[in-house]
Amino acid sequence: MAKKVAVIGAGVSGLVSLKCCVDEGLEPTCFERTEDIGGLWRFKEDVEDGRASIYQSVISNTSKEMSCFSDFPMPEDFPNFLHNSKLLEYFRIFAREFDLLKYIQFQTTVLSVRKHPDFSSSGQWEVVTESNGKKQSAVFDAVMVCSGHHILPHIPLDSFPGIEKFKGQYFHSRQYKHPEGFEGKHILVIGLGNSASDIAVELSKKAAQVFISTRHGSWVMSRISEDGYPWDMVLHTRFISMFRNVLSRFKIIRKWMMEQQMNRWFDHANYGLQPQNKHLMKEPVVNDDLPSRILYGAIKVKSRVIELTETSAIFEDGTVEEDIDVIVFATGYTFSFPFLEESVVKVKDNTVSLYKYMFPPHLEKSTLACIGFIQPLGSIFPTVELQARWATRVFKGLCTLPSEKTMMADTIKRNEKRIDLFGKSQSQTLQTDYIDYLDELASEIGAKPDLLSLLLKDPKLAVKLYFGPCNSYQYRLTGPGQWKGARSAIVTQKKRILKPLKTRALTTSSTLLVSFLLKILGLLAISVAFFFQLQF
Ligand SMILES: Cc1cc2nc3c(=O)[nH]c(=O)nc-3n(C[C@H](O)[C@H](O)[C@H](O)COP(=O)(O)OP(=O)(O)OC[C@H]3O[C@@H](n4cnc5c(N)ncnc54)[C@H](O)[C@@H]3O)c2cc1C
Ligand SMILES: NC(=O)c1ccc[n+]([C@@H]2O[C@H](COP(=O)([O-])OP(=O)(O)OC[C@H]3O[C@@H](n4cnc5c(N)ncnc54)[C@H](OP(=O)(O)O)[C@@H]3O)[C@@H](O)[C@H]2O)c1
Repeated sequence: MAKKVAVIGAGVSGLVSLKCCVDEGLEPTCFERTEDIGGLWRFKEDVEDGRASIYQSVISNTSKEMSCFSDFPMPEDFPNFLHNSKLLEYFRIFAREFDLLKYIQFQTTVLSVRKHPDFSSSGQWEVVTESNGKKQSAVFDAVMVCSGHHILPHIPLDSFPGIEKFKGQYFHSRQYKHPEGFEGKHILVIGLGNSASDIAVELSKKAAQVFISTRHGSWVMSRISEDGYPWDMVLHTRFISMFRNVLSRFKIIRKWMMEQQMNRWFDHANYGLQPQNKHLMKEPVVNDDLPSRILYGAIKVKSRVIELTETSAIFEDGTVEEDIDVIVFATGYTFSFPFLEESVVKVKDNTVSLYKYMFPPHLEKSTLACIGFIQPLGSIFPTVELQARWATRVFKGLCTLPSEKTMMADTIKRNEKRIDLFGKSQSQTLQTDYIDYLDELASEIGAKPDLLSLLLKDPKLAVKLYFGPCNSYQYRLTGPGQWKGARSAIVTQKKRILKPLKTRALTTSSTLLVSFLLKILGLLAISVAFFFQLQF
């Protein structure tokens, strides 16, 4: 009999987990507390308890070709960076294509997930849900926790002495929806993550003045990279990843190169943005407008706030900004698992002890996996897909986890490495690198491409895999879940990137021909001149 799996949440992680369950012949039931799919990516005017809340203008900071699921490229006319409504459209098409909606029970909240009395032999879980005030209990063979980690606001008021006296308005970035209503105001945005930057830029077009206060600074990147290609298609290649790994043995060179790379667009020190620890690989801000809004003076970068008064903010460097009307705390998120007992998963200081960010290491049976509790340096979508592919194969008994001792040791080591690479900040507790982690997950299920044998069989493809963008299709070339469209998706990727840009027909062929003819004529003229010089 097929194993029954409870999937908690119908955001991106939940949807892809459902598909992986179906692919593996498991029998999933998804519980979603709201009335629809999409999780974070479904914008609503009002802020709902228990669901992530975004502002109307959010645009993805990872590109479409690097963010799509591995056997389902985004429609080729979709733009390269997607407005939240467009990304939601993709998830809707995905859910329809794989007929996932029939597994979802909407407006059903998971209240508790407890070990079944015979858990040590069966690995089963008792899941209690609530729908329209009615509680229900059911037993499942496995559980996939896909409830998201951008739901609970982190609003550190204790670090802002005087906030109780402040007479203006203040709120967390989760409450922010539109710039309307902020016309002519003096606004202070706290933090320098992606939320802070997006919100500061948007408000600076309406407000009298926007200040952005950062205690540690941040690297800021453009969505546009070499030759106008999306940044993640250029930077997330196996070649660059290998190069970085080799360089990590020579820390001084790696640090120097990173600084050079990050300062290529503009000198962060001149803009007051330079990170305090320049050498951490902390998640960068991806924002094309922030530097220009600073150049226009519409945004002023300030240091840490040390005190607030009724109307002003006093900063670490002794400067004071008067007449502040609004403070936006874009200070990130915390997370929790209210339906799980602490003995199963415990969150402490925004960190959680999970084997490879997924499995509680101390369970007698590996029948519970957390999907999406991670912040990779690239797109989260292919990452959660590989997590779900692995988890479902563990549930089926096709993959086994190592001993508790090995898992604990790995978790501790990984955490130390994370702190070394990304630092201790609250916003970096779930941070991972990108390709290394994807490869690690793919290796677990036997879907990591073997470049060496590919070089012999299909050298063109091998070169694309090594020097080209490390997209999700690479993990469907081989192993379980192989997709016959994967090779073609890889070689036609450029076409899909350029397609939405081809909105104006250019007569390139004739200009190319003219320039080619001119070059030939030029060469002829030089040859003739050279010939005459020899003659006379
Ligand atoms: C503003 C913003 C922009 C981002 N942009 C990007 C980007 O461009 N690229 C990228 O890779 N990542 C991005 N991220 C990261 C983001 O976390 C992921 O994109 C992704 O949406 C996470 O999906 P998820 O399914 O794990 O969680 P969510 O989207 O939060 O979905 C969780 C779902 O679980 C449901 N749920 C929760 N608790 C329960 C319960 N007890 N019972 C039943 N249902 C429950 C919720 O209602 C929700 O539908 C962004 C994050 C933010 C905040
Ligand atoms: N367009 C997009 O795609 C988009 C938009 C928004 C968010 N996101 C994603 O969503 C996730 C969350 O982003 P986020 O910006 O909301 O949160 P975040 O990345 O966690 O950033 C929080 C910011 O708040 C600061 N902060 C935290 N505590 C503070 C304190 N006590 N005092 C002063 N500053 C403090 C942090 O500074 P320190 O660094 O000093 O700790 C950091 O700059 C990220 O993965 C992000 O990429 C994406």
